[in-house]
Amino acid sequence: MSPFFSDDFKEEVRANNDIVSVVGRYVKLKKTGNRHWGLCPFHRESTPSFTVSTDSGLYHCFGCSASGDVYKFVMEMEHADFPEAMKLMADWAGLKVPESMVEDRYQAQKLQKKQRYYALNADAARYFYMMLHEKESTEAQQYITKRGLAPETIKQFGIGYAPDGWDGALNYLKEKGYTQEEMLAVGVIVKNAETGRVYDRFRDRIMFPIFDMKKQVIGFGGRIVGKGEPKYMNSPESDVFVKSRHLFALNFTRGAMELIITEGYMDVISLHQNGVKNAVATLGTAMNEEHAKVMGKVCKEAILCYDSDKAGQDATMRAIDILIHAGIGVRCLTLSQYKDPDEYMKLLGVERFRQEVKQAKSWVEFKIDRLRTNYDLEDTHQKIQFANEAAKIFARVKNAIEQDAIIRKIAAETGISSQAFLTQIAKVNESAIHKSAFMPQQRKKSSQQTEDHGLTKRQLQGERLLIYIIAVDASVAKRIAQTFSVKDFDHPIHHRLATMIMQLHETGKKVSIPSLFEAFDENEQSAVAAVFNSELQFDDHYKAAMDIIHHIQSEKRLRVIHQNIQEGNVAALNDLLKKHKHLSQ
Ligand code: GTP
Ligand code: MN
Repeated sequence: MSPFFSDDFKEEVRANNDIVSVVGRYVKLKKTGNRHWGLCPFHRESTPSFTVSTDSGLYHCFGCSASGDVYKFVMEMEHADFPEAMKLMADWAGLKVPESMVEDRYQAQKLQKKQRYYALNADAARYFYMMLHEKESTEAQQYITKRGLAPETIKQFGIGYAPDGWDGALNYLKEKGYTQEEMLAVGVIVKNAETGRVYDRFRDRIMFPIFDMKKQVIGFGGRIVGKGEPKYMNSPESDVFVKSRHLFALNFTRGAMELIITEGYMDVISLHQNGVKNAVATLGTAMNEEHAKVMGKVCKEAILCYDSDKAGQDATMRAIDILIHAGIGVRCLTLSQYKDPDEYMKLLGVERFRQEVKQAKSWVEFKIDRLRTNYDLEDTHQKIQFANEAAKIFARVKNAIEQDAIIRKIAAETGISSQAFLTQIAKVNESAIHKSAFMPQQRKKSSQQTEDHGLTKRQLQGERLLIYIIAVDASVAKRIAQTFSVKDFDHPIHHRLATMIMQLHETGKKVSIPSLFEAFDENEQSAVAAVFNSELQFDDHYKAAMDIIHHIQSEKRLRVIHQNIQEGNVAALNDLLKKHKHLSQ
């Protein structure tokens, strides 16, 4: 609770802002049972898994696990802090924020101070923008033209120019009523420590304003005109500018399911100009966990498209680890002989670039390909080392089907058997278990261990994926029913779900996830949520379904074999091996 308002007022505002109607301002909701459902505003999805309830006063998304109360919702949606959200909600409810409620003058001042900084930055941006269009700025104008930036792009990104002088911005902003202290705080000017003299930070530079999601100017990147050092100069961190919490151009990417991440401002601008409107970049710093968190809120997948030099490729490796740790899917795009996305676009055009994006490798393949260049696979010793390292990478692929596919591919390419990789992966997983043995509650389960009604983890996952496919694709559901019928689902909840879905298909009714949900008890709903947890994208539903079925069936056979081994049932084992000769090879 912020010290800014009293608890009483906080609750009064809450009581006058029913969560369903507040959420309804942003999200189209539909009532099913005693809950309201809609498309989650915190991640991209096409079927509703976001739910709000007046009773509890909470929202929750079964897809991305976002949850909270009405205050948290407004803060997230408005990118506001607590007092701002409260003020807004008080306005909606027609309540006046009482003067006496302002308990902490310091907080109020801080809020005002930040507002001044935003205004100052916006005025500075206006100044730079104006300066770019001055007669005297021909060199900067020519440079921008040479880099191929169109007038609309300059306008959209608010690109400007800081003239070569010591006090252009300083005087302009002073005129506007800002103090030296304020200008120093946001860093548009700097102070010489010895003489105490103040002067413009950005001189003779092309200026890129940096916006937050509310389109407020929080800082600047300034590029030298032509050649010279340092190439870029950025605003320092301030109360309004925290580099790891913002991404360049994120404010222009609304609605993008995946983000293309580049290294440079110029790459981003060039991509947007050509219609690739989901490109972003970090702000002159390497990607870190905090960036990943910000991205995780708006996208499910990131496509890393860094410079093709060694530094860029090394940075890609580090970014992969950070992003997958944050649960974001990662693909990587390498531009071979082209320096960066900007150059690629200029030389080959946007259509070729889009093709590259489509074909971008999964992060696993990227890592494996890179690993391969370090080993001579003709040499047995090196081959073993390669397999060991590759297994560590494979072990990090959470999705069993994806893991299977990539192992097969690399096995075919390297002549190392899939089985050898699987054995190594088991060892990697095993040692992970031993490492966490002192923390029993965190002990990981290996894929052969059973959980959830005796299903192996892979089988469980396979069934979930299959349900998902039959729910979204009626024609595939009917096509596969011959091979894998409703009764083949071993998990009782999956069995029920499949039965319900098939009935809906047969009667030509639309499958609605919310109403499926309502058919289950509270304690069963998490199993249903697990099925619809991820918005998966399969190119070919039928092919994916058949692959999964194949997988589940071999997993079931393995389970029977394991059971018989454990029970020492030799006769049954022999029988099985006769039946499935290929398994004994
Ligand atoms: P162009 O060379 O004009 O195409 O610019 P670019 O945006 O592609 O830059 P580059 O690929 O050289 O660098 C990538 C990013 O790193 C830039 O956009 C900056 O954010 C940052 N950067 C580059 N040089 C410097 C520098 O000298 N200082 C700082 N602080 N950041 C830099
Ligand atoms: Mn570049």
